[in-house]
Amino acid sequence: MEERVQGDKSAGQLESHSVTAGGDEQKQPVPGKTILQVEGVTRSLPLGHERIEILRGISFGVQQGEFVAIVGPSGSGKSTLLGIIAGLDNPTSGRVIIDGVDVTRMSEGKLAAVRNQKIGMVFQAFNLIPTLTAQENVEIPLYVGKHKGSPASRARELLELVGLSHRLNHRPTQLSGGEQQRVAIARALATDPPIVIADEPTGNLDAANGEKLLQLIAYLRHTTGKTFIIATHDATVANHADRSIRIVDGRIAAIEGLRGEAIRS
Ligand SMILES: Nc1ncnc2c1ncn2[C@@H]1O[C@H](COP(=O)(O)OP(=O)(O)OP(=O)(O)O)[C@@H](O)[C@H]1O
Ligand SMILES: [Mg+2]
Repeated sequence: MEERVQGDKSAGQLESHSVTAGGDEQKQPVPGKTILQVEGVTRSLPLGHERIEILRGISFGVQQGEFVAIVGPSGSGKSTLLGIIAGLDNPTSGRVIIDGVDVTRMSEGKLAAVRNQKIGMVFQAFNLIPTLTAQENVEIPLYVGKHKGSPASRARELLELVGLSHRLNHRPTQLSGGEQQRVAIARALATDPPIVIADEPTGNLDAANGEKLLQLIAYLRHTTGKTFIIATHDATVANHADRSIRIVDGRIAAIEGLRGEAIRS
């Protein structure tokens, strides 16, 4: 089903956008449904004769439709944690359960399908393919597995949503950092995944485009019930989240709710 929303004119590049909600019915969050469960996740790596402990036992759950910020100092383990949640890296111990399925015990083939269907990932370093245009980069996930409609029109629709309909045929080197970041966001949304994981998505955006990204997140949560898990150093982004999980030295130091109250510390 196609949803067209005419937004506030002052919203600039997001003034008019259309998003396919996916399926025949609009997806709405099921209140109280746990879509992600992280249980006792550790990650250590050999370094010379020693092992470095990057994650030291992380546990939390995320409800469908929730917006969770992962915050904490540089080097505290945020990107490592997101990579493990997205199934790109294995924990040394512990489990990640996505929509009831333990992805840490899965074959690579099945895991690839889960990643494609359930998770959209925006990387800290974008990971766009340099030889492809913006539109082709967004189309890529749609050639994996079965997806409705035309990849080209879906890619154009999403690039319009992030304010890049005038840059469809530009390659990554012909785009600014903020524009590349927005292509990466459009690509993460291509398969209409229920969970969007983003690593510093506003790191290369100016304040106005950062604000537009937050509006886009709010819009997608409202219309499609998507769940957002975002690692960020940006206090504005963290302030918009339902909860902030603070990681310090590979451990959860605090979990704070909407108005900054401590849920657990
Ligand atoms: N492949 C690796 N080999 C050795 N050490 C690593 C490796 N990957 C990450 N680390 C170390 O693990 C720690 C956590 O890294 P990570 O990238 O998860 O931090 P981060 O919280 O995302 O930091 P930032 O805010 O700077 O992005 C860092 O000290 C990093 O140097
Ligand atoms: Mg990082």
